Amino acid sequence: MSTAPIRLRVPDDASRLPMTLPRLAEKKRLGEPIVMVTAYDYPGALAVERAGVDLVLVGDSAAMTVLGHPSTVPVTVDEMLMLSAAVRRGLRTPFLIGDLPFGSYEASDEQAVATAQRFVKEAGCDAVKLEGGGSSVWRAAAIVAAGIPVMGHVGLTPQTATALGGYRAQGRSAQQAARVAREALALQEAGCFSVVFEAIPSAVAAEVMPHMVIPVIGIGAGPATDGQVLVFHDLLGIREGMGAKFVRRYASLLDEMAGGVAEYAADVRARRYPAPEHGYSIAPGELAAFHATLENERTSGRDH
Ligand code: KIV
Repeated sequence: MSTAPIRLRVPDDASRLPMTLPRLAEKKRLGEPIVMVTAYDYPGALAVERAGVDLVLVGDSAAMTVLGHPSTVPVTVDEMLMLSAAVRRGLRTPFLIGDLPFGSYEASDEQAVATAQRFVKEAGCDAVKLEGGGSSVWRAAAIVAAGIPVMGHVGLTPQTATALGGYRAQGRSAQQAARVAREALALQEAGCFSVVFEAIPSAVAAEVMPHMVIPVIGIGAGPATDGQVLVFHDLLGIREGMGAKFVRRYASLLDEMAGGVAEYAADVRARRYPAPEHGYSIAPGELAAFHATLENERTSGRDH
């Protein structure tokens, strides 16, 4: 087994209070950075709970990170609900946001509300996230009116990356930057409790921030936003390759996992595993009786 050190062993803090929308707004008011991360399963949820993050997103990035699709588009509502429910079971304190997948909210306000309600009722999410401006602003308003908190998402919106010219930074021309700003403000006006700014120039984010009264969470949007979000698998290196320019990697867990499984395979092949301590014992008398039973059955079988 590898003995590589795991840094910052964080004990569970039982006294930590659950994150709420008023607490989140207070963090913005006080200028305290807000920490958001994605998670997609129960052990991931245990890790982010223990790390003490504020917001957890079951992102539709699950399509790529855990389901192996080339984009976020194919993931279904049912798949997202299963992942979100698993995360819910591992979380106590962070605020849990479920990502509405492509095709689950765009068609009508009714569709958007019905999907959002499933995330709350079936998976226990505290809120949902949707992407883009335009008609997404009406969908956000409808979901908020139905009593479910909504997080918006502007800039690079992966569900519509094809229409945006691929996975590339947005808002790099004055016209594009103005569109990103208009969308962010419209989502704020629609009642979103927060908005994600993804892959936009730091200076554009800094220009928009004074107009945002709700917490803004950045990913590739520089330091001016109220908080940051990273994809769990990107920051922990549970992936091939480095990922986007804005990712900082804090561990190389795919290498760790592959190394651990390779050592296990080598131990099995060399008969080093299992060792005596991995086996169960039986009292000698019981073993002798068992042996005699087998012998009896074998010889009486021979007689018939
Ligand atoms: O799906 C996702 O992981 C996201 C974050 C990058 C914000 O939308």
